[in-house]
Amino acid sequence: PVEVELARSSIILLVPAERSILQVVRENGIYVECACEEGVCGTCETAVLDGEPQHRDMLLSPEERAGNRTMMICVSRANSKRLVLDL
Ligand code: FES
Repeated sequence: PVEVELARSSIILLVPAERSILQVVRENGIYVECACEEGVCGTCETAVLDGEPQHRDMLLSPEERAGNRTMMICVSRANSKRLVLDL
């Protein structure tokens, strides 16, 4: 699992491989807007404060991917063991 810290909510979540970060975040009562849940619309875009996302969306440019500052949490996962998100 990936450890995901929600910095503004002071919550730490464990996201198993078969679930999306978005699903687990919402289950814990944090509202994140989302529309497609397939990485194509951009509404779930979330700022990354620490860690390295594994981008699986269709939207970010190569520069944005490499910058590790933002991610689509409906589909993207993590290369690092831990992510800190601005939620
Ligand atoms: Fe559309 Fe995540 S909900 S990109």
